Amino acid sequence: MLGSVLAAASRSPLARRAVSGFPLTRRVVDRFVAGEDVAGARGAIRRLTGAGFCVTVDHLGEHTRDAGAAAATVKAYQTLLGEIRALGLGTRAEVSVKLSAVGQALGKDGERIALEHAREICSAAREAGSAVTLDMEDHTTTDSTLAILRELRADFPETGVALQACLRRTEGDCRDLAGPGSRVRLVKGAYAEPASVAYRDRRQVDRAYARCLRVLMAGRGYPMVATHDDRLIAVARALAAWHGRGRDDHEFQMLYGVRPGRQRELADAGAVMRIYVPYGTDWYGYFMRRLAERPANVGFFLRSLVS
Ligand code: FDA
Repeated sequence: MLGSVLAAASRSPLARRAVSGFPLTRRVVDRFVAGEDVAGARGAIRRLTGAGFCVTVDHLGEHTRDAGAAAATVKAYQTLLGEIRALGLGTRAEVSVKLSAVGQALGKDGERIALEHAREICSAAREAGSAVTLDMEDHTTTDSTLAILRELRADFPETGVALQACLRRTEGDCRDLAGPGSRVRLVKGAYAEPASVAYRDRRQVDRAYARCLRVLMAGRGYPMVATHDDRLIAVARALAAWHGRGRDDHEFQMLYGVRPGRQRELADAGAVMRIYVPYGTDWYGYFMRRLAERPANVGFFLRSLVS
C-alpha cells in the first residue's frame, strides 16, 4: 500500500516540490545517488571499478516536456562518455538512458526525437569503447522503447534494454530478445502498473521473473540479472550453470547503495557484478522509487529528517 502511494508520488509535481525543497533531504539522497555532477559520477566510477565492479551510469532525469532539456541531456551523456573514454574502462563502464529524458515524451514527434538523440549517445558510447542500455519506464512506453531499440540495434547491436518481469507481456518480449548478441537486463519493475497489464502480487512477479530468466538463460543473448533478491540470484546462478554459461556469458546488476555487502560477495565469488550509478540534480523520481521498493527506507528517510 505505502509502496503504491510512493510510486504514484514519484510522478506527482506537488510531491516533487515538497520533497525536493526540504533542506535535509540531500543527505538521505546521497545514499542512493553518486553526486550532483559529472565529477561525482567520475569519483564513483573510479572507486567502484577500482574495487573490481563494473558500472552502468545514469544521468538522472526523466519525462522531459522540454526540447531544450532533452538536448541538454544528450550533451551531459556525451560529457560523461568523454570521462569514461579518458578512464579507458571499455565496457566495464557503460551508460543507462531513459528515453523519456531525451525526448520520448515530446508529443507526436517524441519517438523520432528520442531515437535521434539515442543514436548520438550510442555513437559517443562506441567512441568510448562502451555501450548503452535503455532503461524501461512505465508500460505506456514499452512498445515505443522496443521500437527504438530495434532501430538502434541495426547500427549499434551492442545496445541493451531493461525488461520488467511484472508486465504480463514480458515473457514474450524475452523470447523475442533472446537471440545472439542481445543484451537484456531483467528487472522486477519499479512503476505502479494496473492489473490489466501487470502482476500485482509480489509472488506472481517473482515467479514471472524466474520464467523470464529461464528464457534468457536458455537463449543465445547476454542476460543481465538485475535484482537484490537472493532467491532469484540463486535461480539465475543455477540456470547459468545448467546452460553452461561461464563468467563472461551473463552478469549480475544491483543499484548504487542497495545491499553493498551482497554486491561485494558476488564479485568476490567471481561473478561480473555491475552497479547502476545514478548522478545529477534531478533525483526526485529515482529516489521516490527506491523508497517505494522498501518501506524500511521511508523510516531511514524520516529518522534523518528528525535527527
Ligand atoms: P525486491 O524489491 O523484492 O527486493 C529484494 C531485497 O533487496 C529486499 O528484501 C531488500 O533487502 C533489498 N532491496 C530492494 N530494493 C531496495 C531498496 N530500494 N533499498 C534497500 N534495499 C532494497 N526498474 C524499472 O522499472 N526499469 C528499469 O530500467 C530498471 N533498471 C534497474 C537497473 C538495475 C541495475 C536494478 C538493480 C534495478 C532496476 N530497476 C528498474 C528497479 C527494479 O525494477 C526493482 O524495482 C528493484 O530492483 C527492486 O527489486 P528487487 O528485484 O531488488 O527485489
